[in-house]
Amino acid sequence: MRMVAVLAVAALLTASSCGSGDDDKPPPSTVEVFTWWAEGGEKAGLDALVTRFNADCPGQRFENGAVAGGAGVNAKQALTQRMARHDPPDTFQAHAGAEMTDYIDAGQVEDLTAYYDSWGLREALPAGLIDDLTVHGKIYSIPANIHRANVIWTNPTVLSRAGITAPPNDLPSFIANLSALKAAGIEAPLALGRDWTQLMLLEAVLITDLGPDGFAGLFTGETDWSGSPVTKAINDFTVLLSYGNLDRDTLDWPQAERLLIDGQAGYQLMGDWEAADLTAKGFPGYGWFTFPGNGKTFQWLADSFTLSTGASNISGTECWLKTVSSASGQQAFNAAKGSIPARTDIPSTGFSPYQRSAMADWKSTTPVPSCAHGSACSQPWQTAVNAALNAFSTTHDPKTLQSALAQAATQFIRE
Ligand code: GAL
Repeated sequence: MRMVAVLAVAALLTASSCGSGDDDKPPPSTVEVFTWWAEGGEKAGLDALVTRFNADCPGQRFENGAVAGGAGVNAKQALTQRMARHDPPDTFQAHAGAEMTDYIDAGQVEDLTAYYDSWGLREALPAGLIDDLTVHGKIYSIPANIHRANVIWTNPTVLSRAGITAPPNDLPSFIANLSALKAAGIEAPLALGRDWTQLMLLEAVLITDLGPDGFAGLFTGETDWSGSPVTKAINDFTVLLSYGNLDRDTLDWPQAERLLIDGQAGYQLMGDWEAADLTAKGFPGYGWFTFPGNGKTFQWLADSFTLSTGASNISGTECWLKTVSSASGQQAFNAAKGSIPARTDIPSTGFSPYQRSAMADWKSTTPVPSCAHGSACSQPWQTAVNAALNAFSTTHDPKTLQSALAQAATQFIRE
């Protein structure tokens, strides 16, 4: 089956192009696109891509297979179930990096290397990203964007009521600001959400306390999860949690974001999909800064799209992937999604001030991957870490958390 699909892809590359369907023999016309982009800025990004797809791929119809839930918490489970019953969508969203290897190892995605050559993607995409996507010489997905994870979003009105007018320079000043907000009557100044969002906060603190190399080494085996810098980071993380809302474990990221919008919190750590979402929700006056102490570190992740093994509409999916990879597709998608294009040949005009700053930072900062969003960790590893954080959120036992994190690394670090 897999070989048949590979041959079909190769044939398509030479014989067909988007929208040039044979009138006598129409190809299957629906492309099911599976994501977790169901509302707000995420849906706006998807809609913009669909508009391009409709223009680029006449005769093909987008079918929305989205399953709601931040970071794909529900979508990934639904996808696993569909894979198990051999009912995959034509294409699905997956993070570039370690997370892709889960699908590759299971034979659930097709080799797309030939597309990279025929669509000129080796020149259009950064070499480092192509390296991160290459597994045993082959590439299995097409990146749509680069998101940044280590960003704090602010409600400037709330901050100014506590006399805070500038971003903090380091973690102690950030904690001092959180205290000032509390003193000014903001009960939970740091908006928090469920497990994976707490993992993002812990990762940001780890970057501050270990530096970019020490942090990146946590996922390659070069940095010891049992060491004292990680102990310090867990302590700092615990202090930060004490400034957050107590119902954190029940909130997805948009619900935590709502606390910021409504002025119940002054700060939220979240990936830069929040920029587009705040705008989509009528709150364009947000502020932002890189997590205190992260210096010139850009914690990156990339949404990419696959061709499922056993996809029912290969030519339509090819056209979807071509749109995702194209300059016009990436311009339209990213302008609405809050991310920046993965392609390096797209001008910054038409992007928000935040996005223009992210584009400049992406060129001048040190990249580190994200565990919560798959560039650093496989899915079983993410699941183990999220479970450890869930437990910690109730037990507040830092030793147990650190040993669970160390154990997960031992179990899941790849050769
Ligand atoms: C990430 C994904 C982003 C955004 C976010 C929140 O995993 O890469 O595009 O959707 O989840 O749902």
